[in-house]
Amino acid sequence: MSRSIRKLDHIEHALSTGPSLTHGFDDLKFIHNSLPEVNYKQINLSTKIGELSLSSPIFINAMTGGGGERTKEVNRQLAEVAKETGIGMAVGSQMAALRDPSQQDSFRIVRETYPHGTILANLGSEATVEQAKVAVDMLEASALQIHLNVIQELVMPEGDRDFAFTIERIEKIVASLNVPIIVKEVGFGMSKETVQTLTSIGVMAVDVGGYGGTNFSKVENRRRNNQLDFFDEWGITTACSLIEAYHAVGDVYVISSGGLRSAIDLAKSIALGASAGGFAGYFLEVLMKHGQLALIDEIQKIHEELRLIMTAVQAKTLFELQKKPLIISGDTYHWASQRGFDVSIFSRR
Ligand code: FNR
Repeated sequence: MSRSIRKLDHIEHALSTGPSLTHGFDDLKFIHNSLPEVNYKQINLSTKIGELSLSSPIFINAMTGGGGERTKEVNRQLAEVAKETGIGMAVGSQMAALRDPSQQDSFRIVRETYPHGTILANLGSEATVEQAKVAVDMLEASALQIHLNVIQELVMPEGDRDFAFTIERIEKIVASLNVPIIVKEVGFGMSKETVQTLTSIGVMAVDVGGYGGTNFSKVENRRRNNQLDFFDEWGITTACSLIEAYHAVGDVYVISSGGLRSAIDLAKSIALGASAGGFAGYFLEVLMKHGQLALIDEIQKIHEELRLIMTAVQAKTLFELQKKPLIISGDTYHWASQRGFDVSIFSRR
């Protein structure tokens, strides 16, 4: 099957399999404050991911490009939405455009549409330094996302099963590029150990890409005959991944993603230490089912609701929200306890 048909399959199957909705955010609760000494008008949603300054913590996470005109049109529409709402945007893997230059248009449209936006380039961890440079130049990108998608490759009928020297390749890219590197998962989450390894090789930020949203095991199982459905339940939830990342030693920015659909998911992510939140499947669903204006409304609604939540917990800035107490229960509590993480550091601060 050609790469460009696969890109269209991914959109169709991501929409039809839907999110797992088991991201773990339901296990988290803010502590009510009856005396929040703050004015709603003072709430500031700006954030920083290393040297990237963003006016909103929301960004559109990597999805598409490389599937001809249809993916070019999806990227154009997403870029218009990102521009209108002032948020950042990542493109899907640009490997398709490196292998077939006629596909470059389907990615370049994003920079053409949103000339001053924060745009993230995207490649898989098989990429070489040269390929990484070309991908960044193609978009005049603000940063490069490198995705880790082991389970997807294992389930994908035509998947790549050689994961040796991944760390070394990423390390070379970090050392050679003049934009920051963000390493992301695609919905299976990240452990403390993974985050620590990535931090130790100089990665600027990790996007935990947790379990609970778009499920690439289910997507790829749709594309094969003998089902590897044991991988459908595989992964670290987004909430648990954020707790894992919080406990990693070293200096790294953390981005939340994996099943984010609302302001409360985002607020809880930030209280678990994230600096921003990536939305992929949910935004695609709104765009495809209801159109661009509906997606713009939805993003504005999430901004507005995030401000309301920040007012309720008395956090004028996202930095203050990162320090607000959270009670952790259920499976997320059990996971954290089994892993030796003392969750009272979140509830008693
Ligand atoms: C993706 N995702 C993705 N990620 C990546 O790094 N490169 C890519 O090319 C793609 N392609 C892609 C296509 C489609 C149709 C979807 C829905 C998603 C993964 C995406 O960025 C994100 O990590 C996961 O989808 C989990 O987030 P959500 O969808 O639960 O918000």
